[in-house]
Amino acid sequence: MPAISQRRLLVTSALPYANGHIHLGHLVEYIQTDIFVRFQKLRGHRAIYLCADDTHGTAIMIRARAEGRREQDLIAAMREAHLADFSGFQIAFDHYGSTDSEANRALCGEFWRALRARGLVVSRAVQQLFDPQAGVFLADRFVKGTCPKCRAVDQYGDSCEQCGASYSPADLVDPVSTLSGAVPEIRSAEHLFVTIEALHGFLADWTRSSGALDPRIANYLAGHFLGEPLRDWDVSRPAPYFGFEIPDAPGHYWYVWFDAPIGYVAATAEWCATHGGSLDEWWGRGQAAPTAEIHHFIGKDIVYFHTLFWPAMLEAANRALPAKVRVHGFLTVNGQKMSKSRGTFILARTYLDHLDPGMLRYYYAAKLSGGIDDIDLNLEEFTAKVNADLVGKVANLASRTARWLETTGLSARYPDDGGLFAAAAADAETIAEAYEACDFARAMRHVMQAADRANAYVDAEQPWKLAKAGAEAADRLQDVASVAVNLFRQLAVYLAPVLPRLAEQAGTLVGGPIRSWDEATRPLAGLPVARFEPLIRRVEATQVEAVLAASRQAEAPSTESIRSSPGASPMDPTTQPATDPAAPLEAEPLAAECTIDDFTKIDLRVARILAAEEVPEARKLLKLTVSLGGDVRRTVFAGIKGFHDPEKLVGRLVVVVANLAPRQMKFGLSEGMVVAASGAGAEGVFLLSPDAGALPGMRLH
Ligand code: 2FM
Ligand code: ZN
Repeated sequence: MPAISQRRLLVTSALPYANGHIHLGHLVEYIQTDIFVRFQKLRGHRAIYLCADDTHGTAIMIRARAEGRREQDLIAAMREAHLADFSGFQIAFDHYGSTDSEANRALCGEFWRALRARGLVVSRAVQQLFDPQAGVFLADRFVKGTCPKCRAVDQYGDSCEQCGASYSPADLVDPVSTLSGAVPEIRSAEHLFVTIEALHGFLADWTRSSGALDPRIANYLAGHFLGEPLRDWDVSRPAPYFGFEIPDAPGHYWYVWFDAPIGYVAATAEWCATHGGSLDEWWGRGQAAPTAEIHHFIGKDIVYFHTLFWPAMLEAANRALPAKVRVHGFLTVNGQKMSKSRGTFILARTYLDHLDPGMLRYYYAAKLSGGIDDIDLNLEEFTAKVNADLVGKVANLASRTARWLETTGLSARYPDDGGLFAAAAADAETIAEAYEACDFARAMRHVMQAADRANAYVDAEQPWKLAKAGAEAADRLQDVASVAVNLFRQLAVYLAPVLPRLAEQAGTLVGGPIRSWDEATRPLAGLPVARFEPLIRRVEATQVEAVLAASRQAEAPSTESIRSSPGASPMDPTTQPATDPAAPLEAEPLAAECTIDDFTKIDLRVARILAAEEVPEARKLLKLTVSLGGDVRRTVFAGIKGFHDPEKLVGRLVVVVANLAPRQMKFGLSEGMVVAASGAGAEGVFLLSPDAGALPGMRLH
């Protein structure tokens, strides 16, 4: 598209927390950002898509402790998992960083010095709940108790799900630490605050007049926050905390939300280090970055951080402000909040095990209109829409015509098609405008209308009859098929941001890789057409059922799952039934009495699973490599296949019989046994885990 001048766009999605796996709710954002970036690139602009893992904070520290490993090991493992999920959904970052990087530490220092230099940092004592047993200050999420307003029990430390009141954790009645069950103490600690009220005038102006925000968001900010003085922002946490220690405040760490958005800048610095150019070309002000546009895609829950704190920090540090903060809503599934018991808390991995990523990309695109409304993944509609549009309209257009061109190729001149190609080409700018506004739903409607017209043409021309008519209709057959294949490729160009795989397949079929939007306006002629390969299969209801069934089983360890399913916490009294069933003991009565000497002969140790893989030839076995601490490792074959996903076992602490005589098995030497429970009353093999804080090598007494 030579007529348009080249823009430079730096595009980000919110950084996912490193303490949970990617699920379909997250993907609403990553898929839409990826579509936007791919669209910009196809239009010939210079766009870079940057993201990173958000690695710091109490939750990661606690989880690492519980799993008996270092935070760095936990975040490295989660990074691998995140990247695999993103690549499975064809999300193509130009760089994926980590907030735990040296680049981020250095930039946090730069922002901090700027805030200090402008006199925007103050220190004050804060009363916070402290868990005396776990030895940590408790983030709001790790305290539960009775709502001080409506007296509803079992509420989190920051707000009540019953009456909607928000309060501070110290106000909870009968608070309990969800980490240890201990009653928390109120302790006082010094915290550092950014006095963003000093930037009130700037923020009021920027939110209203910069054009970065949808007017509805600007109104919300004006109505809820900017009408009164802005509260100081608490940006430090005392030790112990997993994060960066503040250089001029030893023993204090930057709060995770301070270093997270700086991660956008750090990811850019790392990208520049490998691709050239300077950071100031993207994040500098004035002359250094005359045309760079920063676009942040975020969910509606983190608007405050991105439209008040973050611009305030950028302003204080004299860095570029975002051109657009694009806010989207949440995902519901079948009209309701995602739920593990309904099987609708669907992890990216679980979806990918059963379904094609392109289908979700298309479905989301068809639902997203650039606003902040929630979108619903209705699974019946998903099945019907994917089958009707992608299979029935787009793929079908090629599958019922391309084969006639395998030997002849496209007609030497593009035939008369009654103006069909030109009509869809005339839509190029309308579709582009819809993509630019993130109104992908509108773009998809235009594309499907073009697909309908193309299919009506094929229906009317009936190439299958021409094929039967033999040599005398051969030219006409070639012309009709050439029109259909061209119309198919045109659709593939328009759909390329959403369906990169389909675009590749279309390029392989005819004309080579799709590289520019402009290709939708030029029909091809006289080119060879490759052998037709199936493009996409129909979705079957059984596949969707399989996703739901697997999701009911899968671990869902993200923060959202903890928040949305109150039964998930091990300290939650609702997980304990009034009477335990008798079946297990009845089915397997107690063994004969033994002495303490008998017991001590068996050396039970805590061990960490370092690697887990299926033994393909064995129905029940997983091969585990476990660490007993230091460099003492054992290989154990455990009969838990089918009950545990090997990938999810890695890092987990278990109990092993460490002095069991090695046993030569068909698949290798087994050097111990992993202890697990099983029996009547519940199907499964349940591994045992020690309390948080236990270390590999500790003996069970
Ligand atoms: O809400 C979240 O999931 C955060 N991890 C988002 C951080 S976005 C940015 F500020 F880094
Ligand atoms: Zn309440």
